[in-house]
Amino acid sequence: MLKVVIATGVPGVGKTTVTTKAVEILKEKGVKVKVSNFGDYMFKVAKERGWVEHRDEMRKLNLSQQRELQALAAKAIVEDAKKELGDDGVLIVDTHAAINTPTGVWPGLPKHVVEGLNPAIIFVIEASPEEIAARQAKDVGRVRKDYSDVEFLRRFMEFARNSAIASAVLVGAAVNVVYNREGAVEEAAKKVVEAIEKI
Ligand code: AP5
Repeated sequence: MLKVVIATGVPGVGKTTVTTKAVEILKEKGVKVKVSNFGDYMFKVAKERGWVEHRDEMRKLNLSQQRELQALAAKAIVEDAKKELGDDGVLIVDTHAAINTPTGVWPGLPKHVVEGLNPAIIFVIEASPEEIAARQAKDVGRVRKDYSDVEFLRRFMEFARNSAIASAVLVGAAVNVVYNREGAVEEAAKKVVEAIEKI
């Protein structure tokens, strides 16, 4: 059976870093694993269509455009994983439970997306808002000004956690909050791996 898990977290919390480390650990244990970055799938189509030049512009697109990209990404991720992993292995989808758009906070995992992915676990990677703001500031290649205010991050993290729970309810997935402590990526990654091994 293909095990699907979803890694979420506010931009800059380090979910991609933690996921990458978790994959390394799983591979060392001989587990067949694939990571699909939802944003990569959306960005490929958005760029081909000339809608954006940079991935951080996607959340500023009209909601109808974002919805179309989101649906295409969910479908392609499942198709690619089935081709690559068959019925065996672990698929980790790196994405967001909530996105800050000009129309308001928008779910990254609405019904059609989460049902299509059918995860066993939705991870919510967290850190303190201060740690997240500091990580964003160091990560110079990215534009996350709309997520950089510490008070905004505090409120948004609550939104993101609640969004993850709402999505999990639709498919009976577990929600697992993992704290990504400063300088302790491996510790967070091990918690992710331990939970995956218990699916
Ligand atoms: P996405 O593709 O997810 O952006 P991303 O770059 O993958 O992720 P983030 O920006 O969230 O950063 P991160 O938390 O993974 O941090 P990182 O590991 O890089 O999303 C792009 C866009 O796609 C979205 O804005 C949205 O428009 C769209 N999208 C995606 N999913 C969607 C969905 N489902 N529906 C609709 N739209 C969707 O780390 C950051 C920095 O911190 C690094 O420098 C790292 O070295 C450092 N760091 C990490 N952990 C630690 C630690 N423990 N201690 C010290 N430093 C650390």
